[in-house]
Amino acid sequence: MGARPQFIKAAAISHTIRDLYSGQIQEDILHTGQHYDDAMSARFFRELDIPAPRYNLGVGSGSHGAQTAAMLRGVEEVLLSEHYDAVLVYGDTNSTLAGALAAAKVNVPVMHVEAGLRSYNRAMPEELNRVLTDHASTLLFAPTEAAKENLCREGFAHDKVFLSGDVMLDNVRRYASSAMLPDCYEGEQILLTLHRNLNTDEDKRLKAILSSVDMAAGRLGANVMFAVHPRVAKAVESMMFDNIKPVPPLSYHETLAVLQKVRLVMTDSGGLQKESFFSGRPCVVLRTETEWTEIVDCGAAILAGGEEWSIVAAAERMWSVKPVPPSQFGDGRAAEQIVASILHHYHNESML
Ligand code: UD1
Repeated sequence: MGARPQFIKAAAISHTIRDLYSGQIQEDILHTGQHYDDAMSARFFRELDIPAPRYNLGVGSGSHGAQTAAMLRGVEEVLLSEHYDAVLVYGDTNSTLAGALAAAKVNVPVMHVEAGLRSYNRAMPEELNRVLTDHASTLLFAPTEAAKENLCREGFAHDKVFLSGDVMLDNVRRYASSAMLPDCYEGEQILLTLHRNLNTDEDKRLKAILSSVDMAAGRLGANVMFAVHPRVAKAVESMMFDNIKPVPPLSYHETLAVLQKVRLVMTDSGGLQKESFFSGRPCVVLRTETEWTEIVDCGAAILAGGEEWSIVAAAERMWSVKPVPPSQFGDGRAAEQIVASILHHYHNESML
């Protein structure tokens, strides 16, 4: 793993291994170094009590090819120097793909947590990462029925695909009581995040989205807390909006606390779409498609795209929505199901 959303997912699995299976599974964590700022990485390890990585490749930022290549090389070296029975990867980042590909190439079985998600938009690097990772995997853990169906449609063998529920729901339930408001929170009613390449690579597009969010907030009489991802920090410095307050990236506990306070979330993040839903908050998705279709289908989120009028209309429409608790993401014990399935798989293999 190497990026912020993976640390969050890994927390659920690592705790399950430590609490329930420590005599049967030894887990070593490899951090690729894709995220390296304290606020993007180490803080999550401290806050979520994730075991310290045994390896840190320290690859840092770079173009997709350069970054993924450095990770591939580093993961392969580790896999060739040690004997591992499996490599577990999370989500859809460049770290996910590098881990899966490196392991598959040296014949170490790959287990993919959060398998089967599809946006069907190949311009998203994450879409390529998740499709390729799924196809390099031996066991695939689909968080939802829709994700499982995607995999079955693509021809994956049914006995390799498990409907596990979503480890992010496990975490929201587990950590709701540890939520802690950041000092910078001043009663804002809207939480905003933006980091997708399609929204942030060009300053013009980023500015257009922010000015639409600002206009929507003005019409709703609301203020916006904008948790700024480092990739847009510099661009955002030179932009000013009446109703938007930029703040540093939030920690996990801070995110959960802010979600309990705000009335609306506006984001292009996949993880935050789910955390909003799990926290009972409506969400305006600042994209034209989502992998988490069940949240849109049940009316708890809306796809706003990037047009000014559609963002403002979406915010107005979602302002008064009160999502009901989710039933499509499991029972909050996905990590237990995943670890038990892995052990079961190895038990059956050793009987052959
Ligand atoms: C990555 C994932 C994305 C995930 C996101 C969560 C890929 C292709 N994308 O996107 O799926 O949703 O993480 O945040 O893997 N930077 C820093 N400090 C850091 C990390 C990044 O300053 O600790 C800056 C650098 O300028 C870097 C840029 O952010 O070039 C982008 O980082 P990168 O990891 O490439 O992509 P994310 O946008 O974070």
